[in-house]
Amino acid sequence: MKKLIILVLAAAIMLSIAACGSSTSSNPSSSSSDKKDILIGVSMPTQSLQRWNQDGANLKAQLEAKGYKVDLQYANNDVNTQIQQIENMILKGSKVLVIAAIDGSALTDVLKKAADNGIEVIAYDRLIMQSEHVDYYATFDNFKVGVIQGQYIEEKLGLKEGKGPYNIEIFAGSPDDNNATFFYNGAMSVLKPYIDNGQLVVVSGQKDFVTVAIPGWDSAKAQARMDNLITAYYADGTKLDAILSPNDSLAIGIVASLKNNGYGTPDKPYPILTGQDCDKPNVIAMINGQQSMSVFKDTRVLAAKVVEMIEAIIQGKEVPVNDTKTYHNGVKVVPSFLCDPVYVDVNNYKEILLDSGYYTEADLKQ
Ligand code: BGC
Repeated sequence: MKKLIILVLAAAIMLSIAACGSSTSSNPSSSSSDKKDILIGVSMPTQSLQRWNQDGANLKAQLEAKGYKVDLQYANNDVNTQIQQIENMILKGSKVLVIAAIDGSALTDVLKKAADNGIEVIAYDRLIMQSEHVDYYATFDNFKVGVIQGQYIEEKLGLKEGKGPYNIEIFAGSPDDNNATFFYNGAMSVLKPYIDNGQLVVVSGQKDFVTVAIPGWDSAKAQARMDNLITAYYADGTKLDAILSPNDSLAIGIVASLKNNGYGTPDKPYPILTGQDCDKPNVIAMINGQQSMSVFKDTRVLAAKVVEMIEAIIQGKEVPVNDTKTYHNGVKVVPSFLCDPVYVDVNNYKEILLDSGYYTEADLKQ
């Protein structure tokens, strides 16, 4: 059975790489010699989270390998810094901008400038809102990320089999990130029926998005909220069975709080805890039994797809998209390419993260 699951997972990864991977055919018009003057601006939100470092590095390496010049900038999670960096990329003559926005709704003016200069814009991972000048969106299926997290909790607690009631607490991501709502809605599409029928009990009663959202995806804020929840609702020994965390930066804060509050013993085991990104500290936390799962979004695959989109834009060819319905940014539906996320836990991380070369054994040393 285990072998079968591994085979299915391996096949799924191969398929998702095939579905999202870049074409390797060498087109004469795409030889590196005629591209050495083409500048691509890549604007990333922060270096504080491992995934964005990988996103930036993968994009830069793959674009340079194709002969482009790359201006890669990180904005330290500061909106004004990101706007200034994008303005500079426009001044320097970028042909395409790839932007992972900090605040999805704060780029309307700067994108107008980009459009005035004939620059095409690809929203990277996070949709850029309130602008008609977002040409394409490349991301993972964000609703599905939430569904995978919800289904993990559903399966581990045996909710489909009618088990329960179990106690759960719910976290959501940053309200200024459009993805956060998709993750929350995806997870709640699985969990809400069990909350409604009483198999899941949110002991704090805090479950609507606005109440449970953590601004800036901040680990310390997640830790503080978890501390407050434990003090107010679980200090009397009430069992906490599961926590829905939308990503790894929140999960890290939640684990720190659980640890400080005495979880991780036979009497007080760690609750089921979800995550997303498979950041190294979180994979280590999974190996240590502190975090149960994470959703893996292979940044190599997303970068390869974006490079393919850029090639098509530069060569005036049809840009690959596979979704023209889901992502409305307040002004228009942005044509999107959605890659496939997969779940990782302690039973399959070796196959998915090590065998695929994403991490080495040494990366995951404690
Ligand atoms: C990304 C996640 C990431 C989060 C915090 C989201 O937009 O999709 O992968 O964990 O931002 O940086």
